[in-house]
Amino acid sequence: MPGTPERIERLRSEGLAALAAARNESELLDAKGRYFGKKGAISEILKGIGALSAEERKAVGAEANRARAELESVFDERLAAIREQERISREGVERLDVTLPGRREAPGHRHPISQTMADIISVFRRLGFSVQGGPDVEKDYYNFEALNFPPEHPARDMQDTFYIESEAGDLVLRTHTSPIQIRTMEKTRPPVRIIAPGAVYRSDSDITHSPMFHQVEGLAVDTGITMGDLKGLLTEFCRMTFGPGKPLRFRPSYFPFTEPSAEVDIQCVICLGRGCRVCKDSGWLEILGAGMVDPSVFGFVGYDPEEYSGFAFGMGVERIAMLRHGISDIRLFFENDIRFLSQF
Ligand code: PHE
Repeated sequence: MPGTPERIERLRSEGLAALAAARNESELLDAKGRYFGKKGAISEILKGIGALSAEERKAVGAEANRARAELESVFDERLAAIREQERISREGVERLDVTLPGRREAPGHRHPISQTMADIISVFRRLGFSVQGGPDVEKDYYNFEALNFPPEHPARDMQDTFYIESEAGDLVLRTHTSPIQIRTMEKTRPPVRIIAPGAVYRSDSDITHSPMFHQVEGLAVDTGITMGDLKGLLTEFCRMTFGPGKPLRFRPSYFPFTEPSAEVDIQCVICLGRGCRVCKDSGWLEILGAGMVDPSVFGFVGYDPEEYSGFAFGMGVERIAMLRHGISDIRLFFENDIRFLSQF
């Protein structure tokens, strides 16, 4: 009979059905003999292949070989299952080798970002800060306006915002944890000394930026707080986090809600300052933004800027985790590859 692809397909499915229906070894062997054993229908097709044209030979040969391989592997599985079944009914027990070593449960652990976050929080707790939270889906008012980013202000472009479609039309995924500054000051009077950890979102993605990442915000407001307090605190934070002697620099910067503003860089741990693709050849990595709370922000929450002053900072948790562990690609944190995660 000629070997057509249709016929091979029919033999394949008949063969599979016969293997599935076999109740013992001899029925299994019988099915093999009929369909894909030495004299089985598929093997006969392969033997007759020489009579076909070159083109047909190729197609039919490939189909027939594939079908036979599949049937053989199903046959092996069924044979093993049937033999095991027969052994169980003969011996009346499942085989149990009590000398095999046990299968140990691999205990999990916290994700490296959660670990770093917990460590940052613990440093600031020891320095007298308490922890505050706020919503991830935030009002434009808290994310921008009360932080002195007026509507249409070009400083909003610094943050690649995800906008949320809503009836009210003023919701965003928070681009930073700074809205928690406003929420905290709205409901408490000075002295304020808080940190606010959480996820933040920006439409930005490359080896040092992820569309979702984490920050820890800090805010201190009281009478007589100065930039010196801010520098001292952040220097101490870096010492406690990275150990003594890690070079650190304060660089003038701009944020609408702080004046003056600074960014803090730490020496690149990948290249130790020589310059590499992670630090974009600068030798430094930015870990946080900071500054003295702008008096106009106090205006939004009803604090008297003549009486109180304060500082704020916001740090990137992934950045700090990358620096601590010498990781060069932020995306590794979010791929959930167990070979990566189990190293921490
Ligand atoms: N929110 C700023 C950012 O995400 C960082 C910052 C926080 C700067 C607090 C100053 C004070 O870029």
